[in-house]
Amino acid sequence: MAANDVDVFANEEKRNLELGGHVGFDSLPDQLVSKSVAQGFCFNILCVGETGIGKSTLMNTLFNTTFENEEASHYESEVQLRPQTFDLQESNVNLKLTVVHTVGFGDQINKEDSYKPILEYIDAQFEKYLEEELKIKRSLYNYHDTRIHICLYFIAPTGHSLKSLDLVTMKKLDSKVNIIPVISKADTVSKGELDKLKIKIMSELVSNGVQIYQFPTEDEAVAEINSSMNSYLPFAVVGSVDDVKVGNKMVKARLYPWDQYRVMENENHCDFVKLREMLLRVNMEDLREQTHARHYELYRRCKLEEMGFKDTDPDSQSFSLQETYEAKRKEFLVELQRKEEEMRQMFVNKVKETEAELKEKEKELHDRFEQLKRMHQEEKKNLEEKRRELEEEMNAFNRRKVAAETLMGQALQGCSQPFKKDKDKKKLTCQTVSQAGALLFTYDWSHRCSHHVQCG
Ligand code: GTP
Ligand code: MG
Repeated sequence: MAANDVDVFANEEKRNLELGGHVGFDSLPDQLVSKSVAQGFCFNILCVGETGIGKSTLMNTLFNTTFENEEASHYESEVQLRPQTFDLQESNVNLKLTVVHTVGFGDQINKEDSYKPILEYIDAQFEKYLEEELKIKRSLYNYHDTRIHICLYFIAPTGHSLKSLDLVTMKKLDSKVNIIPVISKADTVSKGELDKLKIKIMSELVSNGVQIYQFPTEDEAVAEINSSMNSYLPFAVVGSVDDVKVGNKMVKARLYPWDQYRVMENENHCDFVKLREMLLRVNMEDLREQTHARHYELYRRCKLEEMGFKDTDPDSQSFSLQETYEAKRKEFLVELQRKEEEMRQMFVNKVKETEAELKEKEKELHDRFEQLKRMHQEEKKNLEEKRRELEEEMNAFNRRKVAAETLMGQALQGCSQPFKKDKDKKKLTCQTVSQAGALLFTYDWSHRCSHHVQCG
């Protein structure tokens, strides 16, 4: 179809026609209802609140069942998000309910980044949905939608107003999710204190520009109840999993040591019923719709703009996916080339640096080698000198030794000649020996002499 044909149809006037009788398209809403019922529903609740503030108890009370709950310790080093999904059925309606708890919230000494894991979790669910939407083969019909539809923010009743952790967290989350603030364990404060606390909390939220979820008043059917309920925010709730016999009936209630109880279903006792009505019976679909149409839409728009997509280009030409893709691809290639060049330059510099370092080391080694060589030659020369001296000494010694041995020989010969007197013999022998000893001062004279001659 040519573009001109589209314009022709667009300008064509619409005409109203009267029907002659019942044709059946008035059953379209019923068709929608039955299709939705067959498909089932997803509802995801995020419970943000300090450890032990009553999140799990309230969830159990709200759905009148017992979810698997694990108590959190107060020693988590950071906030963690723990999602749990349950399949619930009421009449013929199937609900896939995901309850996400913040484990360790408010337990760190430095609470500055406590909101970050929560924000990241919410964004991650949007991202998953967007990825599914952008797939070529997408299956949104049976996709398990994990986007958070409602954030119940639990405020501790102990205190005069909101803590800065509460304010910062709600402020960071308010553009991402529908927030309903609740004052938990409302049975621990008196009625007067509770009223004052509610007023204080609301005025602090307004003065800090925190946008909390407002029950919609556009639909006439629910306008009255919703507008009246808006004035009860934040809801003061009490949770309990215990059944207490009141009259003939067993009801969910908290029983106190002084034998009194507070009944969850009694609107004079707490706002639990109001919360349940607003959350599940009246505004569940609005919460789902707001999540998709407001929060997810904002996320999607920002994300696509960040990726370079835009609806119109500066010349007001219509948006072309192909052109955007080409532009983005070109941008990416330029960036890639720049990074490649940067890395190459880095590599060259690194090689040059290493080369210079190696050269320096080589020079050092060479100098050392030369020095050692010089020392070695010097030592060799000294040793040669010493060897020469020793040889000379040895020669001299040998000469003296020969002379000494000759003298010794003569002396021994003398001893074997017959002497007239023993005295003469002894005298001659000792003279010769002392001459030989003088010649051979290191010679082992005593050893040899003792063998042949007995010196007096
Ligand atoms: P973690 O999951 O460990 O962070 O705790 P939680 O926020 O889920 O609190 P949980 O529901 O486990 O409740 C903690 C304690 O508070 C339990 O002993 C509950 O009985 C008690 N509790 C819960 N709700 C209320 C309430 O409305 N009033 C009072 N007085 N006590 C409550
Ligand atoms: Mg819990």
